[in-house]
Amino acid sequence: MAIKGLILLSVLWSANAYFANNKVIGTLYRWKQIDFEYPSPQDRQTALDNGEFIQLNVIPLGVERWKDRVFVSTPRWKKGVPATLSSVPVDVQDESAPLRPFPNWEWHKADNCTGFTSVFRMNVDHCGVMWVLDSGQVEAFETPQQLCPPTLLAIDLETDTVLGRYPIPQEYVLQNSLITNIIVDSRDALCKDVHVYIADAWRFGLIVYRASDSAFWRFNHYSFYPEPLLSNYTLHGLNYQWSDGLFGMSLGKFQNGDRPLYYHSMSSSLEFYVSTSVIRDPTRVSNSVSEFKLLGESRGDEGQVSAAAVDRNGVMFFNLISQDSIGCWNTLRPYRKENLYIVAKNNSTLVFPNDLRLDHEVPQTGWIITNRLPFYQFNLIDPNRYNYRVLFLDPVEASKYNICETSN
Ligand SMILES: *[C@@H]1O[C@H](CO)[C@@H](O)[C@H](O)[C@H]1NC(C)=O
Ligand SMILES: *[C@@H]1O[C@H](CO)[C@@H](O)[C@H](O)[C@H]1NC(C)=O
Ligand SMILES: *[C@@H]1O[C@H](CO)[C@@H](O)[C@H](O)[C@H]1NC(C)=O
Ligand SMILES: *[C@@H]1O[C@H](CO)[C@@H](O)[C@H](O)[C@H]1NC(C)=O
Repeated sequence: MAIKGLILLSVLWSANAYFANNKVIGTLYRWKQIDFEYPSPQDRQTALDNGEFIQLNVIPLGVERWKDRVFVSTPRWKKGVPATLSSVPVDVQDESAPLRPFPNWEWHKADNCTGFTSVFRMNVDHCGVMWVLDSGQVEAFETPQQLCPPTLLAIDLETDTVLGRYPIPQEYVLQNSLITNIIVDSRDALCKDVHVYIADAWRFGLIVYRASDSAFWRFNHYSFYPEPLLSNYTLHGLNYQWSDGLFGMSLGKFQNGDRPLYYHSMSSSLEFYVSTSVIRDPTRVSNSVSEFKLLGESRGDEGQVSAAAVDRNGVMFFNLISQDSIGCWNTLRPYRKENLYIVAKNNSTLVFPNDLRLDHEVPQTGWIITNRLPFYQFNLIDPNRYNYRVLFLDPVEASKYNICETSN
């Protein structure tokens, strides 16, 4: 598998013409608009004719990679999104390939709570189980309807079968909650000891799920709130206000029986951390306020970050959504502005980097999705240009010869 990973990465680098920044980052897929693989052209045409498929309303949000597939979610935020979780091959044939509904079309009837309703994000653990966060809600940008409870699903990617479906108990989903991101904490070789941390961006909570007994609990904390002035964004001339709280989460190295969870609100320039030993203990829910700590300095005026992830060498990569950029930070250094570095910046290919994951291959690759989300929200997507991209990042190259470099 190691060899295959190496070959794949070199194929990626040699095959494509979309290099930026010397082999740090490249484009795997790009789409003007998203399309899906229908059983036949007639089925596709029927879906277009009857409004089941409204191409301009489909936006990719979450990205993950496992072996030869890249997974992409397309939440049902507006009408006309026919499928909500899909895959595309890592081995690209067509740079604008249609998405293949995962595992098949049967799973994408929005009101059938056994299948998928509206998938936001996915995270694959090192045992090949994809944890999927389904919001259960459709048409959030039009007339929101909660068809099913927000649900966590565990899917075995060797067999594409559902191992479990875990609706988040009502007591942890508040009115107007936006349960929007997840990260899996799996530590042992066989993934017996698994927890999933779940962010509520609108009601400022951290929900913890423990796989061993399917239990949930919830922390609230003032560090999950947005900063007022950072909630006022201007991106490529578009001014908008989002007051999104807890969103991005990443896990530091596991050592001495513990590891930190780094986290931030979307509309914020500050990073915080908490020991996972604290949040994994349900008895700490109401007696841990001082365990949630500021990591260091502010990232500054345009320091809002969506997703982040830490690679095997302990380097964090993060999406700077107001700077068309990807940043890095070596977690062994103090969190100061001078220790943060921009590894890639491009005002056409990196507009609104929304999700970022690091895969389990050797060598490891980072996966980023960019989607111009604010333009989608205000119906300003221009179908004649490339709006959506799946990019890949070489974390070792990206942290070479700069302040993020590690001694590994
Ligand atoms: C952005 O990326 C494109 C495609 O790789 C490249 O042609 C362009 O020069 C880049 N722009 C900047 C400002 O770096
Ligand atoms: C609901 O979806 C599941 C999973 O795809 C499928 O097995 C089941 O037949 C569907 N039920 C209905 C009533 O469509
Ligand atoms: C929000 O940003 C806009 C555009 O930069 C600016 O004109 C406005 O004064 C800002 N509002 C506040 C409250 O800072
Ligand atoms: C993108 O960046 C280039 C180089 O910095 C600049 O010349 C160009 O005006 C920018 N384009 C937009 C749309 O911001």
